Amino acid sequence: MVSERHLWRLRKRPQGDVRDGDLEFLKEPIPALQDGEFLLEVLYLSLDPTNRLWMSDRRQYMPPVDLDAPMRGGVAGRVVASKKQGVSEGEIFFGLGEWADHIVTDGTNYVKAELPKGLPLSEGYGVFGLVGPTAYFGLLHVGKPTQGDVLVVSAASGGVGQIVGQIGKIKGAYVIGIAGGPEKCRALTDEFGFDAAIDYKNEDVGARLDAFAPGGIDINFEQVGGEIMDAVMARMKMFGRMPLCGMISGYNEGETAPGPRNWPLILMQRLTVQGFIIFDFIEHYPAMMRELGGWIAEGRIKSRQDVRVGLDRAVEHLGLLFTGGNKGKLLVEVSPDAARL
Ligand SMILES: NC(=O)c1ccc[n+]([C@@H]2O[C@H](COP(=O)([O-])OP(=O)(O)OC[C@H]3O[C@@H](n4cnc5c(N)ncnc54)[C@H](OP(=O)(O)O)[C@@H]3O)[C@@H](O)[C@H]2O)c1
Repeated sequence: MVSERHLWRLRKRPQGDVRDGDLEFLKEPIPALQDGEFLLEVLYLSLDPTNRLWMSDRRQYMPPVDLDAPMRGGVAGRVVASKKQGVSEGEIFFGLGEWADHIVTDGTNYVKAELPKGLPLSEGYGVFGLVGPTAYFGLLHVGKPTQGDVLVVSAASGGVGQIVGQIGKIKGAYVIGIAGGPEKCRALTDEFGFDAAIDYKNEDVGARLDAFAPGGIDINFEQVGGEIMDAVMARMKMFGRMPLCGMISGYNEGETAPGPRNWPLILMQRLTVQGFIIFDFIEHYPAMMRELGGWIAEGRIKSRQDVRVGLDRAVEHLGLLFTGGNKGKLLVEVSPDAARL
């Protein structure tokens, strides 16, 4: 059995972009397995915008990662040794783990993966690990789309956004995605079936929204914050809904940006703005797995994963989320076996 593992430890709270020296990549002995524990070989590490929040000590939805502790991250792992009843070698688990190639756990915060048959692990974990449930619950339980609604999604071509737009289409909405660059915008309409796309890096978002949705917007699935959010909020219809999923434009900031500028519109237009965190919906997971899994099996929902190789380059890969360098759900292939599963 393997006796050492590679892992990242958080050494400093980053100021702005994550820099060399904020985290350290190390090789350490794997602690001996105790009764009730099992050893996972990590297959995929999920890199998510929230990783950057966990590195900071700003007020957030769970405790930040302690300095010198292993960096926290979502993982898909395969059991390579077990002293826990009911857990056998070869089984695959998804959970909240560490930026490491091996993890000893008692199973807290892990679930055995039960994926729709025939789905490669990269897609199964890529969709069902975090972004699919986020899109599903955020749109259906918070945004509550109905036939004919105008739905706007920001960070639309990323992991969550691509699925939000496609679920919106299934529910009969007119879907406008906002993304950076012509290639991403083309993928939104041509590959994912969005009705319209706005390239916020090259176009005037407000003017394009006026052109695509002259009657206003019913739902703003917000993932970015800042100026993009302001432009969308200014065009919300009366009683519009705004699931607040993320505000990535501010995650690298030391201080929370002022705003939103058009806060009074929440009052004037009687908007419902609701933040949500995926963990709020755990009890509804089986229903989500059935419905979202069904749409994927029927080919009604497609997804793109952006798989990068090398745990040792995890910090560099994470930066892609903040420059828009990722094309779909960002995963790190930690074990070469992952691609065969
Ligand atoms: N509430 C929850 O439970 C929950 C769960 C998962 C994710 N989230 C949130 O959902 C959002 C998307 O997450 P994801 O995992 O799917 O990531 P992602 O969309 O795959 O990647 C992040 C994307 O955000 C865009 N972006 C980054 N900085 C930006 C900026 N300053 N202005 C405009 N766009 C910017 C980039 O796309 P472009 O190339 O288009 O700029 C980038 O590709 C994040 O805000 C995240 O925090 C929330």
